[in-house]
Amino acid sequence: MEADKITAASIRARKRALREGKEGAEKIAVLTAYDATFARLFDVANVDVLLVGDTLGMVVQGAPNTLGVTVDDIIYHTRAVARGASRALIVADMPFMSYQVSAEQALVSAGRLLKEGNAEAVKLEGGAPVCEAVSRMVAAGIPVMGHLGLLPQSVHALGGFRVQAKDDAARDRLLADARALEQAGVFSIVLEAVPRAVAKLVTESIGVPTIGIGAGPDCDGQVLVCYDFLGLFQGFVPRFVKRYAELGGSVETAARAYVSEVRAGQFPEDKHSFGSGARVEPSSADEARYASGPKARE
Ligand code: KIV
Repeated sequence: MEADKITAASIRARKRALREGKEGAEKIAVLTAYDATFARLFDVANVDVLLVGDTLGMVVQGAPNTLGVTVDDIIYHTRAVARGASRALIVADMPFMSYQVSAEQALVSAGRLLKEGNAEAVKLEGGAPVCEAVSRMVAAGIPVMGHLGLLPQSVHALGGFRVQAKDDAARDRLLADARALEQAGVFSIVLEAVPRAVAKLVTESIGVPTIGIGAGPDCDGQVLVCYDFLGLFQGFVPRFVKRYAELGGSVETAARAYVSEVRAGQFPEDKHSFGSGARVEPSSADEARYASGPKARE
């Protein structure tokens, strides 16, 4: 393992460092990733955790919610992400109905995500009702990340994607769930779409890091869906998303330019062709790329 490889234990330990105000203690930066190319770019940029989220159902598969995502889907994407990253912790989301049936089902599903997907940890949604499953997975050596607040897998029960824990009773339930998850052994908890004051209260009340999304700046870390922060996803943009780039527009502009040049016969030019001049013979790098795939480019 590389010296600065991020592990579930090192993420867990950041809480104490942050709480004690230790020099160099840094908040935890998490992004979702679904393929090796983005994983490599985010890893090089020192993103701490790459979450293979079931949001892939929406941003990759084009579904209106995350419910249709399967364990096999997550395994496929996690394998790709794991190939692209060497420093970041790889967390695989447990999809809808892969853990709700029983603690045994959760253990089997999580085992597949680690064995077949090369995940290093898993994430699941819910509080007290999933604590038995969390304990079983932790006892089996599987690091688990919790997820409270807006639970996208319960979208139909919630009546939509809405801010949660808005009254005192719901806030108290959320805090009790966070404590129960900590007791069950999670190494961190995602807090999604809760008021800033609630996220602050939970963050100050538990001993594992909170990772906010739509939960304000007082959490121990933040997570964004990569298609959102890059401006690739063209649908509804929630208020909590900051777009660090507008790649959707750039991709469309590039595709239009390509279509127009192909139609006009402007691309490819001679310099993009093999064997038609002294300086355009296939290089060994070209051939290696065709032989072995993207890794050969390095
Ligand atoms: O599936 C996902 O991408 C998530 C994040 C939004 C936290 O759960």
